[in-house]
Amino acid sequence: MDTSGDPGTRSRWQRWRRRLVPVVLGGVLASAGCSGTAPSILDPAGAGASRIAGLWWVLFWISMAVFVEVMLLLAWALVFRRRPGVRVRHGQPLRFVAITGAGIPLVILVTVYSLGLRDLAALGDGPAPGGPVIEVTGHKWWWEVRVAGVAGATANELHIPVGEKVRIRLRSADVLHSFWVPQLMSKTDLIPGEDRETWLHADRAGSYRGQCAEYCGTQHAHMTFLVVAEPRSDFDAWVTRLGSPAPQPRTDAQRRGQEAFVQGTCAGCHAIRGTGANGRVGPDLSDVGSRWSIGAGAVPNDGGHLGGWIANSQTVKPGNYMPPQPVDADRLPDLVAYLQSLT
Ligand code: CUA
Repeated sequence: MDTSGDPGTRSRWQRWRRRLVPVVLGGVLASAGCSGTAPSILDPAGAGASRIAGLWWVLFWISMAVFVEVMLLLAWALVFRRRPGVRVRHGQPLRFVAITGAGIPLVILVTVYSLGLRDLAALGDGPAPGGPVIEVTGHKWWWEVRVAGVAGATANELHIPVGEKVRIRLRSADVLHSFWVPQLMSKTDLIPGEDRETWLHADRAGSYRGQCAEYCGTQHAHMTFLVVAEPRSDFDAWVTRLGSPAPQPRTDAQRRGQEAFVQGTCAGCHAIRGTGANGRVGPDLSDVGSRWSIGAGAVPNDGGHLGGWIANSQTVKPGNYMPPQPVDADRLPDLVAYLQSLT
């Protein structure tokens, strides 16, 4: 029965269209928001992520083919329904069901399973022994970074040499976290009491953003980090810096800031190499002036935000473990000057 001219059908279609247009427009706008600075698994920059992106595209095109097939079959069925004279021959439906309902899915599942196994094996193929090992510990809500065999530590930023697979050893200091650099490698969960391992490989120099990918409490979203892939000589210089004392203060303000830091409450939780500050509760601050952010991605690293963070970090990243600091108003700029000089 042709109902396209029926006023009831027409107004129903118009109602649907009114609902459909905002949904489609919203979807287009939302997907446009996915581009930009957020790291994407579809923009791989290393051997691990390229495997994952490759598998993603295979799955995408298979899904598209299945979608088109289903739509064509639906259209075909609708056309048949409108032709009362057409009869399906005996045996035809069974053959049809066997091919579309069992044969095609079997081929798809076997293909996807085989490709999945192949890529899983490739992702498990870590670096050869003997290279640098980077030790990352997840804390609520920041990342402690060390290099095996080197005394110092840093936070929320790790370096790797370009073109080399680097072993990453993962531990958790408290709860479940997950180490994820979308452009470089798949996620690896950090499980309390267990040593985990993954590896990173970047085929081009650059900074790649990582994120905790397992909900771990109030500030899970602000548990980001940066992987800097650089030439081998720059990486070696970074490792050397990690093992060396922090820069000495050069101005009077920086000297006063260092004194306030070492003699005040700061040193109870934070360490600065080469000074009397040896706290291990919070991040090592020996290179805090060169870091990309404060609070593991909470705010940019500049004088204003640093001062605000020291005075009361709870207003910046509520729930973090640093209590508000009773710092004299005239000491705060000195502390900021000193910490900013640590690069
Ligand atoms: Cu750590 Cu989420």
